[in-house]
Amino acid sequence: MKIKFSIRALIILMAFGMIPYLNFAQNSPPKVIRPGELWPDNNGNHIQAHGGGIIKVKDTYFWYGEERANGLDSNKRYVSCYASKDLTNWTFKGDVVQMTDPDNLGSGWLLERPKVYYNQKTQKYVLYFHMDNKTYKVAKVGIAVSDKPDGNFKYLKSFRPLDHESRDIGQFIDDDGTAYLVFEDRPFGFRIAKLADDYLSIEKEICLIPAHMEGGAIIHYKGLYYAIGSALTGWKANPNKYATATSLAGPWSDFKDIAPAETNTYGSQSTMIIKVVGDKSTTAIFMGDIWKPKTQSDSRYLWMPLEIGEGNLRLPEPKPWELNIKSGEWKYATGQ
Ligand code: DGJ
Repeated sequence: MKIKFSIRALIILMAFGMIPYLNFAQNSPPKVIRPGELWPDNNGNHIQAHGGGIIKVKDTYFWYGEERANGLDSNKRYVSCYASKDLTNWTFKGDVVQMTDPDNLGSGWLLERPKVYYNQKTQKYVLYFHMDNKTYKVAKVGIAVSDKPDGNFKYLKSFRPLDHESRDIGQFIDDDGTAYLVFEDRPFGFRIAKLADDYLSIEKEICLIPAHMEGGAIIHYKGLYYAIGSALTGWKANPNKYATATSLAGPWSDFKDIAPAETNTYGSQSTMIIKVVGDKSTTAIFMGDIWKPKTQSDSRYLWMPLEIGEGNLRLPEPKPWELNIKSGEWKYATGQ
């Protein structure tokens, strides 16, 4: 009798217990990065961090980007922030910028490609972004500042870096901690400039690469600098290219395709290269946007480990993969 009851109780418990178990199984944290697919955050929403950038503070990565979710106030521009310890599972920390045209650029004004730098000296988080009117004629950067990584960022000012036109911006922090802004100066090319001590202005130009490229991204890998950029084709993907140099100031090599030209970078455009230095290996991750200009909230991300070294760089064909954040190693996902 006693045994019978226990079995019945067990069955009942299991039946009820199964429900949360199944839920947990469905919502279990993703282990795999799936280039081009929907990328759910901790709430199950597709990550909204387009044209973004990533910084690491202590053991946490913060991903900032253009928040393009449906149903937002069309007069405002938003920058989202997500946090992660493994670059795979992302917790939405909120829209850290919600701005209404602070410089009177008119309806359709633009805030694109936000990048956040953490300044050790001032202990401030400094956000740079491409700020423009709807015809992209103003071509300047905006700056907003916060005491915390997850905002709120307060708008400070806007300017043209060293009086040059600036549209797409990229962020590069060298191994010695020096912070640079990469920006596209339409008449001349691709500029790399060092930020001032407090990061609130530009100290000096380091280099002008006379190549007409945007989506600028740089990595310092085993003694060599690699710069990636895309051609100027609006929202349409094109063959992104790379060049190398032993010094940021150049001279830079000629540009070569990072992927077979006919794939148009597998439909993506560069925004940043993340260097993951683990205790066994270093992985350089290409971080690209797959834009969907008609349904921007559905724009996707193409993140893939680069094959890189000795002056060569190649973006492999995108496939699901896993990163071991501690060892720095990665592998293709199996059975997914
Ligand atoms: C390409 C840029 O990289 C994007 O950030 C955006 O400005 C589009 N052009 C607009 O066409």
